Amino acid sequence: MHVFEAVDSRKSCRAFLPTPVDGALVRELIERATRAASGGNLQPWSITALTGAALADLVRDVRAALGTLDPRNLNGDYPVYPEPLFEPFRTRRFENGVALYRALGVARGDDAGRLAQYMQNYAFFGAPVGLFIALDRRCGPGQWTDVGGFLATLMMLARGYGLSTCAQESWARITTIVTPLIGLPDTEMLFCGVAVGYADENAPVNRVRTTRAGVDEVCRFVGFETT
Ligand SMILES: Cc1cc2nc3c(=O)[nH]c(=O)nc-3n(C[C@H](O)[C@H](O)[C@H](O)COP(=O)(O)O)c2cc1C
Repeated sequence: MHVFEAVDSRKSCRAFLPTPVDGALVRELIERATRAASGGNLQPWSITALTGAALADLVRDVRAALGTLDPRNLNGDYPVYPEPLFEPFRTRRFENGVALYRALGVARGDDAGRLAQYMQNYAFFGAPVGLFIALDRRCGPGQWTDVGGFLATLMMLARGYGLSTCAQESWARITTIVTPLIGLPDTEMLFCGVAVGYADENAPVNRVRTTRAGVDEVCRFVGFETT
């Protein structure tokens, strides 16, 4: 697959087919993703990959531990967004939520419907593979960025295998529940989860095509004759 196509076709997948992903392929995907650049070549990422019964047990145990808790109000080791969220990010996040829930047919005031969708995060949206991405707690912003680069590389490479993904910060909200279940050492901090599998292309939630700010909104071009 051409790199442009990989980037363009990557989107957050929130409904997966139950089709398993071959273990050797998952290993290869992660191995290739470790080619991501990192400052000083520190390679600060740490991955836990689950599938099959191990994944099913985790999903069951997380569901039981969550009970009636609303995880949308929780923060784990780091606040997922600045509080309060400011412009223009606030509006972008809001519009993203509107598009997602519209695709799902969940009405604006239907908080139970929204919560039900959010809880799908904790089943990896039905994906056959769940990844947890963590890093050493002593790391700083530079290494956090490196982990983001690893994540992006992994999600692009997944497209080359015909796989879809969804990065999930929602897992970081329940770090106290999930960390012991996946045996993550106390020295590591959970950054996010990633659902990996084959997309259910017929699912309405997967038809969402998110928008982007224009290039002039995010980049100042200096010294170019034409842009
Ligand atoms: C680090 C990170 C964490 C994310 N966490 C979640 C999440 O917990 N649940 C979810 O449904 N989507 C999550 N997303 C997906 C974003 O909402 C999505 O990337 C964004 O809306 C742009 O849409 P696109 O990925 O389809 O291009 C996350 C994305 C990133 C990069």
